[in-house]
Amino acid sequence: MHEDNIKQLKVLEDEIRKCNLCPLRQYRKNAVPGEGAYNSKIMFIGEAPGEEEDKQGRPFVGKAGQVLNEILKEVGIKREEVFITNVVKCRPPHNREPNDEESNTCIKNYLEKQIELIKPSLIVLLGNVAIKYVLKLNEPSKIRGKKYIKNNTIYFPTYHPAVALYNPKMKDALLKDFKTILSIYNEIKNKKINLPDFF
Ligand code: URA
Repeated sequence: MHEDNIKQLKVLEDEIRKCNLCPLRQYRKNAVPGEGAYNSKIMFIGEAPGEEEDKQGRPFVGKAGQVLNEILKEVGIKREEVFITNVVKCRPPHNREPNDEESNTCIKNYLEKQIELIKPSLIVLLGNVAIKYVLKLNEPSKIRGKKYIKNNTIYFPTYHPAVALYNPKMKDALLKDFKTILSIYNEIKNKKINLPDFF
């Protein structure tokens, strides 16, 4: 990865930590830019930081994060080798869903730039908020569980890991999707998928 991209990602993270662009700024303890390998071929995008993420300034470190960690481990993907972030970087009050203004502002100013600099080949969208705002779709649940290709990038829309906290059976559904994600990721790493061939 180019040195300059790393520098730009760090500058972006500093901007996120000081961001004043939407009303969520007033509720946060810490903004959560995201973390992981800047040169990763795979990026995971969740909805928004929760209470624990807000406390620590890191993504997916609370209960939903434990589920994500378990599933990554079960399929054999190391958390350190992926990049994890969210649609919005600040916690909405009482964990409500981020609204259109908050989501679109944060995506335009930060998430799109992170994607541009990291250039992942595969983007996993965790839950309906990520699917709806990243892919700009009105009926996000309809495309869950299969590849969606846009702008030279493979998107994989799946459930949010928190679903397994309320319904333990959903862990199997998540695992099934993550096995598919692993096989796409392996194909990309082994260069069996040549992205321009998709178009
Ligand atoms: N839920 C999310 O969508 N993102 C986090 O970082 C934590 C919980």
